[in-house]
Amino acid sequence: MTEQRSVLVTGGAGTIGSGFASWAADAYDLTLVDLPGRFSDRHADLGRIVEADLTDLAAVKEALAGIDTVVHLGGERSPSALWSQLLPANIVGTYNVVAAAVAAGCRRVVYASSVHAVSGYPAGTQVRETDPVRPGDLYGVSKCFGEALGSFAAGTEGLSFVALRIGAFREPAELEEPDSGWKLRDFCAPADLYRLMRRVIDAEGIGFEIYNAVSGNAFTRLPMHKASHDLGFEPEYDAFELATPFRDAVHSVGGLDDKIPLSGLRDDVAAPQPTPRR
Ligand SMILES: NC(=O)c1ccc[n+]([C@@H]2O[C@H](COP(=O)([O-])OP(=O)(O)OC[C@H]3O[C@@H](n4cnc5c(N)ncnc54)[C@H](O)[C@@H]3O)[C@@H](O)[C@H]2O)c1
Repeated sequence: MTEQRSVLVTGGAGTIGSGFASWAADAYDLTLVDLPGRFSDRHADLGRIVEADLTDLAAVKEALAGIDTVVHLGGERSPSALWSQLLPANIVGTYNVVAAAVAAGCRRVVYASSVHAVSGYPAGTQVRETDPVRPGDLYGVSKCFGEALGSFAAGTEGLSFVALRIGAFREPAELEEPDSGWKLRDFCAPADLYRLMRRVIDAEGIGFEIYNAVSGNAFTRLPMHKASHDLGFEPEYDAFELATPFRDAVHSVGGLDDKIPLSGLRDDVAAPQPTPRR
């Protein structure tokens, strides 16, 4: 049997970290890191558990020894977070993870960036991974820091670094809730994100890359062409297929079918022509 890749997940007790660990427990030799007191019994079967604060560089260095790939999800996830919360969790913590990954000789860091790194673009703008960053809040600024640090580490130290600009990570059922409108455009189904994360962990030959990470939504501000082109990744879900009123709207726009008669090139020819005026 071939040896499993050792993958360490920071924020391993959080929403995405716990979900990914359950989904990928058979695929990798997992280590989950989170703050003391965050893990529960359900994490025990998923992998090695390490309780550590990412602001503690020595503890992070110790945890990363012998790790192939770090999936860095740990930190503050709220777009309303204050600088005083973002500085330790997202700035110092991310620096420590990247510096420790370089020191430990890790192969790759997969970083949870966010749509908030580019949410300052006007509404309705599609943002590709090659467009300049334009955060809409300080949380987004902290995500830009992580992307920039990853680029620096890849360029100067040869660390492979992949940033995923994750959209609204939600269960499909949540799209039926009355206030779900804002979730549609950036909807990222857990199953789509987990499959993309796995594709990114296993891909060969990546230096530094950023990928949009949402579902295959019919209308989106984060198009998924780059992940499709580079990684052969195709999302399975589409928010506008899942949310009933939008599914109906999308299909009636595309279908232009039986409800109203539509004009065509043959109509005037077939109709009696008015006599030209002399
Ligand atoms: N949930 C989303 O919709 C979404 C969207 C875009 C990006 N992201 C990013 O994905 C990552 C995971 O998001 P989530 O929804 O699972 O968030 P979450 O809050 O559920 O999980 C984050 C985890 O990080 C841990 N953590 C925070 N500070 C830490 C520290 N100093 N040391 C160790 N652990 C620490 C927390 O205890 C928590 O368990 C975050 O970086 C977030 O910014 C999430």
